[in-house]
Amino acid sequence: MKLLVTGGAGFIGSNFILYWMKNYPQDKIVNLDILTYAGNLENLKAVEKNPNYTFVHGSICDLKVVEEAMDGIDCVVHFAAESHVDRSILNPSDFIMTNVVGTQVLLDAALKCNIKRFYHVSSDEVYGSLDLDDKSKFNERTNYNPRSPYSASKAASDHLVRAYHETYGLPITITNCSNNFGPYQFPEKFIPLAITNILEGKKVPVYGDGLYVRDWLYVTDHCRAIDLVLNKGKIGETYLVGGMTDNVSNLEVVKKILKIMGKDECAIEYVKDRLGHDRRYAVDWSKIQKELGWKPLHDFNEWLEKTVQWYKENENWWKDVKTGEYKKYYKEQYGKL
Ligand code: NAD
Ligand code: TYD
Repeated sequence: MKLLVTGGAGFIGSNFILYWMKNYPQDKIVNLDILTYAGNLENLKAVEKNPNYTFVHGSICDLKVVEEAMDGIDCVVHFAAESHVDRSILNPSDFIMTNVVGTQVLLDAALKCNIKRFYHVSSDEVYGSLDLDDKSKFNERTNYNPRSPYSASKAASDHLVRAYHETYGLPITITNCSNNFGPYQFPEKFIPLAITNILEGKKVPVYGDGLYVRDWLYVTDHCRAIDLVLNKGKIGETYLVGGMTDNVSNLEVVKKILKIMGKDECAIEYVKDRLGHDRRYAVDWSKIQKELGWKPLHDFNEWLEKTVQWYKENENWWKDVKTGEYKKYYKEQYGKL
């Protein structure tokens, strides 16, 4: 099989390529990535010389580049996106261009190239926000209710993917996944930001009261879910993918990280809240479990500890990315912190 992976130099995309090339060494992978601040070819050092791996530097918004990259491809696994909510609040337009227009360009090319499967990687954030005292979870029948420019752009892309299936018969699958963590996650996101700030002797910024809840999933579990849906999922279907944590607040996550790293809670700094901050995400993943036999296997506490260890052992990786553009963004977002 020959796969086109978009955004393969980012966090989940690179973990997916490493996972796929280990488990399916006979398959060929083309990685199309424009290398924004979040794309890093260092993540793929282990496979860069593999003859079954090709990197194409270009944008998913560029039809010519996309059509060339899709030549001879069986399946497209579409990760490429602007992915950080805080940046979407500062500057929504990049999110509309990449996440909405870029997805539409890929869909047009996929039709033209007779792609056998267009796999769209999406987010649980399209469903909006749950209350803390509400026991319910998102499922495949939950109405869309995106509340940030990021989640609105992902929702729009999901609708386009389904529309191309219904209208033109494009063979698609979609997964909406909860918050991932693990190696190679850009340190603008909460867990790697907390770990690397502590390693640098800085404070950890906690938004608002810190009682926001995410459904944390180790990135390899996400890759396993994509593998199953790609191989056994039903065309046209959507599957929700979530973690094993039950109502763990951001504050509890930071406290766990501080404990793992042997630091006290003085490192916590409450900062102004994110605009329109979604209170709680929780995912009911029983459909993918029942139909495809998937469940998360990586325990949050154990793999949080391993993730801390990874950032400790890969200081060069995160020090390199916490320069230049990152510093500018950090100052705009966090001021003097
Ligand atoms: P990321 O920001 O780490 O990586 C995104 C990648 O896309 C980067 O390599 C970047 O260079 C590339 N890219 C951006 N614009 C591009 C363009 N125009 N053309 C080609 N490449 C482009 O993101 P991530 O965290 O790895 O997320 C990957 C996907 O998974 C996204 O679609 C995101 O919405 C989705 N998702 C992420 C999470 C999470 O917790 N990180 C959870 C659920 C879903
Ligand atoms: P994030 O990693 O940005 O993922 P998302 O917004 O897509 O869920 O944030 C996870 C949670 O952590 C979210 O509730 C916002 C919060 N957060 C902070 O409290 N401080 C921070 O500096 C960041 C980046 C996030």
